[in-house]
Amino acid sequence: MTSFSEPGALSLSDRQKLLNLAAEAAANSYSPYSHFRVGAALLLTDGSIVTGCNVENASYRLTSCAEQAAIARAVSQFGPGIRLRAVAVANLNHAASMPCGACRQTLAEFAPDNALILYPDESGPITTTLGALIPHAFRGEFITPA
Ligand code: THU
Repeated sequence: MTSFSEPGALSLSDRQKLLNLAAEAAANSYSPYSHFRVGAALLLTDGSIVTGCNVENASYRLTSCAEQAAIARAVSQFGPGIRLRAVAVANLNHAASMPCGACRQTLAEFAPDNALILYPDESGPITTTLGALIPHAFRGEFITPA
């Protein structure tokens, strides 16, 4: 079982581990329409890892992105209290690719602005934060009385 070092910025080897797990998940992608094989690996604050891949549909619009699949799995497995520490996204198409807008909002439901997001850029994996990808995300606090 893969283990991760404790809080603080993720070490280089932890980032690589998370990216590898995302790439492994991408190998299971169901993407007969786009042939774009995406995987996501979530590192939860308790150290658990949950992965997901994109699952397409002939109707196209019912496609689930890898990040959304991973979140659904994480909540199903660990319950509604999950919090994300980091998310790695990989694809097997050697493409620079960032989480889509819908995925950013989905991740924001379970992550603070400083959660790390690792994604493939032209020159290799990049690390940024959720807050940089979706500033001023719509959050539950807006609709839930304090
Ligand atoms: N896709 C993801 O899985 N995550 C993203 O953030 C962007 C797009 C998938 C959806 C679809 O199956 C394929 O990539 C092409 O858009």
